[in-house]
Amino acid sequence: MIVVHTVAELRAHLANFKRPAFVPTMGNLHEGHIALVKQAKPLGDVTVVSIFVNRLQFLPHEDFGTYPRTLEADCKKLEAAGCDVVFAPSEPELYPEPQGYRVTPPTELADILEGHFRPGFFTGVCTVVLKLFNIVQPRVAVFGAKDYQQQMVIRRMVAQLALPIEIVTGATLRADDGLALSSRNGYLSAAERAEAVQLSRTLKGMIVALQNGEHNLAAIEQHAMKTLADRGWHPDYLTVRRRHDLQPPQAEDLTHADRLVVLGAAKLGTTRLIDNIEV
Ligand code: PAJ
Repeated sequence: MIVVHTVAELRAHLANFKRPAFVPTMGNLHEGHIALVKQAKPLGDVTVVSIFVNRLQFLPHEDFGTYPRTLEADCKKLEAAGCDVVFAPSEPELYPEPQGYRVTPPTELADILEGHFRPGFFTGVCTVVLKLFNIVQPRVAVFGAKDYQQQMVIRRMVAQLALPIEIVTGATLRADDGLALSSRNGYLSAAERAEAVQLSRTLKGMIVALQNGEHNLAAIEQHAMKTLADRGWHPDYLTVRRRHDLQPPQAEDLTHADRLVVLGAAKLGTTRLIDNIEV
């Protein structure tokens, strides 16, 4: 495995390959990221992972400054997973001048849910992902279902901009108790870590309500929000949506459970966690 820090080095190395398989990350890698790398490996002739904490996708009050940067440990895990190339650019390498050109995803997909609570988030994500795609020029790229809306926004960008890249979605990896693995779980105290499983439990409770024939979505959502709020969480949203466009389901969607996904985001202490489960 080689670790490169510049676009020039990366391009020189990748010139020898035809089908790079790519996993973009912000580092502080856990088993969820590693599973994506293993999934990517057989899909290309060289496996590339980027590690870059992208300032453009953080709001001023968010955790850009404190986001864990653990390149050495990340590289050990990537080497063990069979990664071939790590691209870990510095900020001036990726953004040598202020990034004035940006990719603005469509408002109906990108300004709801995560985009509503983190305005500009998906513009930051799309801009860096398009730039990384142009640098790596992968034939296939793997994203996690953990960030359900993100992989949809990226899929739509690739389709609308006719990028010759296949987008593959990897399943969400969870801890034994059901908590979705996340770099931000490291922010949790021991007591918060024990409590954190309630997010996925609450989402599962919403699914059970749907499966029991409850069609009053507002009631399901309010109950879920209250369940977490009563335990001391600050929920942003817990909601039932259609898988294909993340809009609220219509009556006919409710009779087709395979059209639905439940998504949630909530703060536990100062840590904001997100999760989702397809119904
Ligand atoms: P990051 O949060 O580091 O996540 C990198 C990739 O790992 C994303 O595709 C994410 O969905 C996936 N992932 C995270 N936790 C996972 C889990 N428990 N199981 C499976 N996959 C998981 O997402 C980003 O970085 C950034 O927005 C990025 C796309 C790199 C752009 O900056």
